[in-house]
This record gives sequence, structure tokens and C-alpha cells, in this order.
Amino acid sequence: MPRVAYVNGRYVQHISATVHIEDRGFQFADGVYEVVSIRKQRLIDLEMHLDRLNRSLLELQVPWPTSRRVFRFILKEVIQRNRVANGSVYIQITRGVANRDFAYSKNLKPSIIIYTRKTRQDTLETANVGYKVISKPDIRWKRCDIKTVSLLPAVMAKQAAVEAGAVEAWLVNKQGMVTEGTSSNAWIVTLNDELITRHVDNEILSGVTRNSVLKLAQKLNLVFVERAFSLNEAIHAKEAFCTSSTALVKPVIEIDNKKIGKGKVGPITKILIENYLSYMDTHHEAY
Ligand code: PDD
Repeated sequence: MPRVAYVNGRYVQHISATVHIEDRGFQFADGVYEVVSIRKQRLIDLEMHLDRLNRSLLELQVPWPTSRRVFRFILKEVIQRNRVANGSVYIQITRGVANRDFAYSKNLKPSIIIYTRKTRQDTLETANVGYKVISKPDIRWKRCDIKTVSLLPAVMAKQAAVEAGAVEAWLVNKQGMVTEGTSSNAWIVTLNDELITRHVDNEILSGVTRNSVLKLAQKLNLVFVERAFSLNEAIHAKEAFCTSSTALVKPVIEIDNKKIGKGKVGPITKILIENYLSYMDTHHEAY
């Protein structure tokens, strides 16, 4: 069955889905995106993703190209046409097509693309594997709270991680504090079992998974604090992990080749993986 993508009002074959050479997303990275996870035919935390998309568009003053109701309909249509039971859906909205000029007209028609990707469904077994991360200086801009497609510093840091045999790079700001991963939020568990993730501000993306994991932590009566932590504190932590819509809760057992805790997936990380997987299976809108 051929993959189908949605591009500016049309359902087209993925293989021949294209945008214009003067799309501002292509030329200036003038656009925003979302990645929503699909598990067992459910869209995970869809409304939170749409709220964040709304916020990103507002920050860049790109008007919503359709109503939210119509947008939701198109999204589900793309997923159904591709028969995705497990995987993700990628959404990108750019300011639109215009003669190349840094300044823009307010009358542009935003471009929308939507497509899906199938992936294997994570199970307790596959999710409980520990990964390595490396650290890299955070050289991104000062509005990392907006989910824009301007991702080059993240691309470079992730490539360095992969070439070092790691899955993610944790980005460290000038104060020596870990901000987040290139495409995930960063978490540690301290020696006295406090769960720590950086507070939300302009230096990080407010992750939807981060938000759901915080709510789970509260339900589970875990002690958690939203505050900055240094790379040194992370290296000496008891446990560490990343969260994102595609990585879910991903255990980290080494940072810069130094073992975290016992160098194994820790008990609090395990509890959160288990609870996040069952949260995904129970709470979300089927399409
Ligand atoms: N990335 N921080 C950054 C910089 C991210 O790019 C992402 C997500 C996250 C986690 O956010 P969420 O839990 O809402 O997925 C944090 C997506 C998955 C991506 O770019 O593919």
C-alpha cells in the first residue's frame, strides 16, 4: 500500500510529495512543527500537541490555516489512509510561499504538510534498555520554547552523539547547566530519590511527554522538583532518562562515557516507563 501524505489541501503519494522552492519553511526555516505519537490506534496527548502548535504559530504570527476541528479531521484522515496502528504523525506549518525576502507579507497562505511513519510498538522489555548520551554545548537560539523547524544546532549535536555511539546529546548552557536533549527533555534522579527536570523557560521546549510524566510522578507520589541541574550533577546522579513523543521514557545509563548510578536502568525510571506505557494505552483518543 503506497504511503500517503497531505500537502496543502491534497492527499498525495509520499514519494512524490513536494513543496515549492520558495516556501519560506525551505528557505528561512520559517515554520513550526509537531510530532504526535500513535500507539494502538490512539493519538497520544493530541490536544496538548495542538495547544503547543497553536502557541508556536502565535509566537511567529503565522495564522492557523484551518479551524482546529478541520485540522483534526485531516490529521486523522492521513493516519487512516496510511493504516498506522503504531508510529507517529508529523505536522509542519510554514508561513507560506513568497518571493525570497527576509520580511514577509501578512497575507501569505500558510503551507501545511502532514505525514505518518510506522514504528514498532515499544513493550516493557524493549523500553527497559539503557542508552548512552554525550554532552554538547547548547549553541541554539534564545527561543527554544517555540517548536520551529530551525534545527541545525540540534542536528549537529545529534550527529555527534550517533557518531560517538550514543542516542542523544544533552545540551549544556554557558552556566554549565543541562538544558535538554537535542530532541527530548532531560531528567535525573538524585541520590535521595528526587526526580529532577529543568523548569520551563525560553531555553527549552515544554515537552508534552515531560508534562505527562510529571503528572504521573505526582499520581505515584514521587518527589519531584522542576529546576536546572548541572552536567556534573547529572553525571553523579542515581538515575537519568530522556522523554519525548518518539523516545517515550528512555533510560540513560552513561553520560560522556561515565556510568550513571550502577550503570543500569534504575527503579524510578522503571516505574515511570511502566506507568507511561499503561498511560498511553488507556487515556487517549482513538481515531
Ligand atoms: N522532539 N525538546 C526538544 C528540543 C524536542 O525537539 C522535543 C521533541 C522534546 C520533547 O517534546 P515532546 O515530549 O512534546 O515530544 C523536547 C520531537 C519528538 C522531534 O523533533 O522529533
